[in-house]
Amino acid sequence: MSQSFDVAVIGAGPGGYVAAIRCAQLGLNTACIDEWKNSQGKASLGGTCLNVGCIPSKALLESSENYERAALKYSAHGIKIEGLSVDIPVMISRKDKIVTAFTSGIATLFKKNKITSIHGRGTLVKDKGDKKSWKVKVMSGDKVETIEAKYIIIATGSTPRQLPFAIVDNERILDNEGALALVEVPKHLGIIGAGVIGLEMASVWRRLGSKVTILESLPEFLTIVDEQVAKEAQKIFTRELGLEIQIGINITAIKTGKKTVLVEYLDAQAKAQKLEVNQLIVSVGRVPNTAELGAENVGLRIDDGGRIEVDSYCRTNLPNVYAVGDVVRGPMLAHKASEEGIAVAESIIANAAGQERELIKLNLDTIPWVIYTSPEIAWVGKTEQELKTTGIRYKAGQFPFMANGRAQSLGETSGFVKVLADANTDRILGVHMIGPYVSEMISEAVVAMEFAASSEDIARIVHAHPSLSEVLHEAALGVDKRALHI
Ligand code: FAD
Ligand code: NAI
Repeated sequence: MSQSFDVAVIGAGPGGYVAAIRCAQLGLNTACIDEWKNSQGKASLGGTCLNVGCIPSKALLESSENYERAALKYSAHGIKIEGLSVDIPVMISRKDKIVTAFTSGIATLFKKNKITSIHGRGTLVKDKGDKKSWKVKVMSGDKVETIEAKYIIIATGSTPRQLPFAIVDNERILDNEGALALVEVPKHLGIIGAGVIGLEMASVWRRLGSKVTILESLPEFLTIVDEQVAKEAQKIFTRELGLEIQIGINITAIKTGKKTVLVEYLDAQAKAQKLEVNQLIVSVGRVPNTAELGAENVGLRIDDGGRIEVDSYCRTNLPNVYAVGDVVRGPMLAHKASEEGIAVAESIIANAAGQERELIKLNLDTIPWVIYTSPEIAWVGKTEQELKTTGIRYKAGQFPFMANGRAQSLGETSGFVKVLADANTDRILGVHMIGPYVSEMISEAVVAMEFAASSEDIARIVHAHPSLSEVLHEAALGVDKRALHI
């Protein structure tokens, strides 16, 4: 007889493992199926985020930034370091230890919450029974088992988008996994795609000594962020940090040699160019992962972008089957995946109790984004260009980190905060930041927007002095042209 559960979660990334924990907390008998294996071939929970995404990239960003501070910035504080050097294998093994601590931590959380963790690939199986439950076949090597569950949560995440002419071997041509595991600093690193991964990986390896050239096909830089922030970022990344960023390019061929990779492309003026690099990172977006999920077996609807179709409550077209995270619409972010997982777990309880009105949905308009470059970029809500396009009248207040005491003491004075508020109601519509530790500062803006705050609300709240948060305070004051320190 097959094992039977209230809920089977497929995928143990931040969407799936959090959904499983919340389901278990709510008293549901829960299984979580995941197929991830780490580089030693061992099952490893946590999906992309913990294994080859958010956590390892932030570990390397921190290490490389420390190195750069010691090399370039400490002397201004009167701190002299002689014979500074960097040991890349130690840096990589520190990153690996952090990853192992977190991935094994999830296994512990599963045990604590009595979640049945099943290693293997989960495939939905055509139901020949009474339709009161779904069947999932789980395959791991030669081992095959089939489990049953009343509710299914699909959280199978995403995988890197491939370019047909740039086959990833993780030796010369790298995806995020290879980019996070280099044990030598490439002399010249090429990156295709000036998006979030491209910029974060460029930061790591440039700080450690690589010459970095980024090739981006779009004619504008970083189109997902507010235009003014993108301009500031481009200026700092190229002029101050020395990244070479070419936009509007069109790749024509990629040739892999023993020690180098040759990229042939047309530049923005359609002139043929060649770039020879030691390693090439391909970071051109990610695609939802529905391979071998068995969607066709059960009639699960997939949209034109390859995502599982869901409504605002993450319900698929099939009864009691939900999907969350990167595999559905919305930003591909870990915190978005996790919050959807929680919302679905709570909706399942409401559904079981026949309380459709109590279904929980996530507000996709207040999901914060952070790009962990230096300076960091963070935002929530609408950009100025979006407000212009939709014809919404707005007021803007802006304040530079340069005029902030804490930023001066840190020696991190680049960037600004901008608050956009409705011209009639003063309700905050978007907040955009580029500067030090804005990854931490953006939460205040998210809370404000969730509570439908006005810019005046932030302007009237007391902010600690001296703190970076005063820059947000002053930007909010600036909406009504009453910033004090500028
Ligand atoms: P995933 O984390 O992709 O997990 C899906 C899991 O399901 C995987 O373990 C996969 O093996 C498993 N799986 C798939 N199909 C099956 C199947 N049929 N059967 C069994 N198991 C299956 N986001 C942020 O918010 N902040 C960051 O700083 C950040 N940094 C990132 C850095 C990098 C380099 C990358 C690549 C991504 C980063 N992201 C970041 C994005 C973040 O990793 C994803 O948004 C997040 O992991 C999505 O979570 P998920 O649970 O939907 O999917
Ligand atoms: P991305 O969508 O951020 O950027 C991809 C870039 O590649 C785009 O600018 C695109 O125009 C460009 N591109 C596409 N095809 C190209 C081609 N043929 N030639 C040249 N350029 C091309 O995708 P990325 O960087 O791969 O990251 C995927 C996702 O992972 C992000 O969108 C984000 O959701 C998530 N992520 C989040 C992070 C964070 O929250 N800090 C960090 C890293 C990833």
